[in-house]
Amino acid sequence: MTTQREVHLIERPEGLPSEDHFSIVETEVGDPAEGEILIKNTWMSVDPAMRPRLSNNQQPLNAPMWAGAIGEVVASRHPDFKEGDSVQHQQGFRELLLSDGEGINVLDPGDLPATLYLHVLGGTGLTAYGGLLVTGELKDGERVFVSAAAGAVGSVAVQIARIRDCYTIGSAGSNTKCDWLKNELGLDAVINYREGSLRKNLKEAAPDGIDVYFDNVGGEHLDAALPRMNPLGRIPICGMISAYNTPGARSAGVTTLSNMIYNRITMKGFVVYEFNEMREQFLSDMIGWIKDGRMQYRETILDGIDNAPKALIGLFTGENIGKMLVKLA
Ligand SMILES: NC(=O)c1ccc[n+]([C@@H]2O[C@H](COP(=O)([O-])OP(=O)(O)OC[C@H]3O[C@@H](n4cnc5c(N)ncnc54)[C@H](OP(=O)(O)O)[C@@H]3O)[C@@H](O)[C@H]2O)c1
Repeated sequence: MTTQREVHLIERPEGLPSEDHFSIVETEVGDPAEGEILIKNTWMSVDPAMRPRLSNNQQPLNAPMWAGAIGEVVASRHPDFKEGDSVQHQQGFRELLLSDGEGINVLDPGDLPATLYLHVLGGTGLTAYGGLLVTGELKDGERVFVSAAAGAVGSVAVQIARIRDCYTIGSAGSNTKCDWLKNELGLDAVINYREGSLRKNLKEAAPDGIDVYFDNVGGEHLDAALPRMNPLGRIPICGMISAYNTPGARSAGVTTLSNMIYNRITMKGFVVYEFNEMREQFLSDMIGWIKDGRMQYRETILDGIDNAPKALIGLFTGENIGKMLVKLA
């Protein structure tokens, strides 16, 4: 038996969660039986979609939380896995996982850091890629606006737009984030949405309007973007993080929907699994862009499982630039 720690939700939050809603619990894990493996997690991902699950039964109380993770197989009695294999799975938020192999994928990161498979080369990257190119039907040279642009999905989306020669506007919640977007990622215009009027600042940043608004935020951002949309513009609805801490994930009122009529705007929600079939093309493009320097990434890393709740909460207070990760081993 080995002692390990895992993160439990112990009380359902109303509004922004606090660390008191979580507990770090010690448990004993045995050696693998026939057909089982023991995984030592090395990195865990936190994602905004975990928040709505805290308020409904999708995340049970007093049980280890679900989250993306990568780790190493430290003991195997399973024919498909061997000791030393790098693996990826969705049963994170714990140090050790005893598994029958269900939902565990062997990871071969090649000469790139394995953590990239938790963001640019993983679900967040595919979300940006499919959301922009498929749902958003992005064309070369269009005008693109991305909210939460300095986050994991947003920072990939703005760079894909740049690669496609688009005039690209990003919004973020601090000047440090805006500086990164403008000076290092090469955006044409940036908006710190916490300063001044978002509607006015977006109007100035988009003198020729917006063809694609990639919405990560909802509420006030969507309200400000709609009047700026060009005829036949598209709004892929990726997420609405501004709403996730309210009951029923209700956003602030969007009052400008009438702009959709004469401009014939399409607004469409999507979920990343819709793009699973494009994963091979996605990986080929993304690895190429990373290697030729056109796709940059940043990671905000908190150390140790004790900091996992803090990392999750930090997504809603804007603590991260790029992908928020928790480092374990
Ligand atoms: N549809 C899908 O399949 C799919 C898949 C993955 C993610 N998503 C969505 O994509 C969005 C981004 O996810 P991510 O993993 O890349 O997270 P992220 O952007 O790395 O982190 C969240 C960021 O959102 C910003 N934010 C938080 N509260 C906000 C508010 N009230 N108003 C404006 N900005 C706020 C913060 O940055 P600032 O400092 O800029 O405020 C924070 O850093 C989320 O809405 C998520 O649900 C959707």
